Amino acid sequence: MRLKGKVAVITAAASGMGKAGALLFAKEGAVVNILDFDKENGEKVVQQIRETGGEANFFDTNLLDMTEIKKVIEDIYDNNGKINVLWNHAGTPGPSDLEEVEESEYNFAMDLNLKSGFFTTQYVVPIMKQIGGGSIIYTASIAGLKASPFSPVYAAGKGAVVNIVRSLAVRFGSDNIRFNCICPGLVETPMMEKFLKRSENDNLEKNKQTLLDNIPLGRLAKPKDIANAALFLASDESEYISGINLPVDGAYLVK
Ligand SMILES: NC(=O)c1ccc[n+]([C@@H]2O[C@H](COP(=O)([O-])OP(=O)(O)OC[C@H]3O[C@@H](n4cnc5c(N)ncnc54)[C@H](O)[C@@H]3O)[C@@H](O)[C@H]2O)c1
Repeated sequence: MRLKGKVAVITAAASGMGKAGALLFAKEGAVVNILDFDKENGEKVVQQIRETGGEANFFDTNLLDMTEIKKVIEDIYDNNGKINVLWNHAGTPGPSDLEEVEESEYNFAMDLNLKSGFFTTQYVVPIMKQIGGGSIIYTASIAGLKASPFSPVYAAGKGAVVNIVRSLAVRFGSDNIRFNCICPGLVETPMMEKFLKRSENDNLEKNKQTLLDNIPLGRLAKPKDIANAALFLASDESEYISGINLPVDGAYLVK
C-alpha cells in the first residue's frame, strides 16, 4: 500500500476529483480526513471508505472560513498526532470575463481559489515541521499556466497557486516539506458544466467539441486521472519532487 501509515487531509472531497482522491488514498492505506460543506455527500464518501475496510472522517467545514479550518486542522492533529499529506483541492470557476465582474464575485473566487489553501497550508506546516516533513498538493488548472481570456479571475487565482507552490517548495525544502500542484484540463465532474457554459449564450456541446478537438489523447479527464497524479505526489515515490506543476490534460497544453 502506497500511503500506509499516513494521515491525509483533502479539502472539497465530497465530490469530483477530491472524492476520487479520498477513495484512492484510503485504498492505499491512508487515514483520510475530508473537509467540505456538503455533509450528505461527504458522509457518503466516508461510509463507502469504511465499508471497504478503509479509515476516513468527515468534517463539515466552510472552506471560506479560516477560523473553522484552523479548528478542524487542530482536531485532526489532536486525534492522529500527525498530518503527512494535505491536498488543497477547493476552488471555483468564479465570474467570467472582465466587464461584468462584481467586487463580491471577485473576492469570493479569489478567497476559494487562493486564500483558503494558503491558510490551510499555514495551519498544517508547523505540524509537518514537527514530524519531519510532509507532502502538500494543490489543485491549480491549465488556466494557471496559459491565457484564459474569458476567465481572467480564475486564471489569476490558479496562476497564483502555481507560484505559491514554487515559493513554498523553496522556503520549506530544508524541513522536508514538499509542495506540488496538479494542473487539470477539463475534468468530468459537476463543475465541468460551469466551465463550458459560462453564460446563457454559450453552447455547451459545441464548446465541449472544440475542446475535444484540441486534446491529443481524445477525451476529457476523469476524476481518477487526477486522483492518480495526487496519489503519486502524496506518496514517498515522489520524495525528490517538489515545486512542480503537473499538467494532467491529455497533452492539451503542449499542442
Ligand atoms: N472540473 C474541472 O474541469 C476542473 C478543471 C481544472 C481545475 N479544477 C479545479 O478542481 C477543483 C474542484 O473541482 P471538482 O471538479 O472536483 O469539483 P466538484 O464540483 O466535483 O466538487 C467541488 C466540491 O467543493 C465543495 N465546496 C465548494 N465550496 C465549498 C466551501 N466554501 N466549503 C466547503 N466545500 C466547498 C463542494 O461541496 C463539492 O464537494 C477546483 O479547485 C477547480 O478549480 C476543476
